[in-house]
Amino acid sequence: MKTPVTVLGLGAMGTALARAFLAAGHPTTVWNRTPGRSPELDELGVTRAATVADALAVSPLIVVCLLNDDSVRTTLAPAATELSDRTLVNLTNGTPAQARRTADWAAQQGAEYLDGGIMAVPVMIGGPAAFILYSGSEVAFERHQAALAELARPQYVGSDPGFAALHDLALLSGMYGMVGGAAHALALVSSEKISPTAFTNDLLIPWLTAMLGTLSQIAADLEYGAAPGAAGSNLAMQATAYVNLIDASVDQGVDPAMVTPMGELLDRTVAEGHGDEDLAAIVRLLRKVS
Ligand SMILES: NC(=O)c1ccc[n+]([C@@H]2O[C@H](COP(=O)([O-])OP(=O)(O)OC[C@H]3O[C@@H](n4cnc5c(N)ncnc54)[C@H](OP(=O)(O)O)[C@@H]3O)[C@@H](O)[C@H]2O)c1
Repeated sequence: MKTPVTVLGLGAMGTALARAFLAAGHPTTVWNRTPGRSPELDELGVTRAATVADALAVSPLIVVCLLNDDSVRTTLAPAATELSDRTLVNLTNGTPAQARRTADWAAQQGAEYLDGGIMAVPVMIGGPAAFILYSGSEVAFERHQAALAELARPQYVGSDPGFAALHDLALLSGMYGMVGGAAHALALVSSEKISPTAFTNDLLIPWLTAMLGTLSQIAADLEYGAAPGAAGSNLAMQATAYVNLIDASVDQGVDPAMVTPMGELLDRTVAEGHGDEDLAAIVRLLRKVS
């Protein structure tokens, strides 16, 4: 028999996780604060637990996917004694500090702990493009890796329980930078009679795709140091051109709120004497902020 699993939380994501476990043949018990959520799971053979304690009692593998850290703590605390000898996998979005605190708390209850970061939207769960970052107990990861692989490709990023959240939030930073930049780009072109769809499909996506190739070089420069004068697009040049981006936005009646901070960072980096370097210099500047 496949490992019985319990899923706490039947929001959009928890429901997708439960569905994937059921589809893979895992006996699946669920609990949700508001009873009766996601009735479609009943046809798939889900077991509904009346209480959190009941839900924890029946499975060695407990997957929690609630709104935030507060909801995880208030949900688990009253049933803490049921966590002994369980593996607690917390897929709720949170910070590294929250993950480390929950790991310590879980250890006090006698549970193995894995923190996770879901790099997917619910419809991707169980599909090939989704992956989930895990950190914490390596023993627990190895024991339950096959079951966790039913949800998404599992990627273990270290024994520090905070590392999954750190990687998750770093990846989200990259995503929000991209979508924020795209939002400003679309505001600019739609200030004129330019098709946002054609602009996006014919120009923006190919451009961003091409620029993705520069990220590896920035990372390598950060890690190993760039050769002097290696920057093909030095920051002093970029800071000068960037002023046009702000000015054109204002001229077109577009709020520059999204793009102004990057201009300020470019200016600061140049002012600190790094105008002949590349974007790795901005990373160094950001890391100085405590
Ligand atoms: N959806 C995504 O695209 C996505 C992607 C990656 C990661 N995530 C993360 O996955 C987690 C769940 O997201 P979701 O999309 O499933 O959210 P959601 O649809 O808004 O569902 C939230 C869930 O949390 C429960 N909840 C909220 N407050 C609670 C409390 N105080 N005590 C107990 N339960 C509480 C809700 O229960 P009720 O039904 O009773 O309200 C519901 O089950 C979040 O941390 C989110 O950041 C989501």
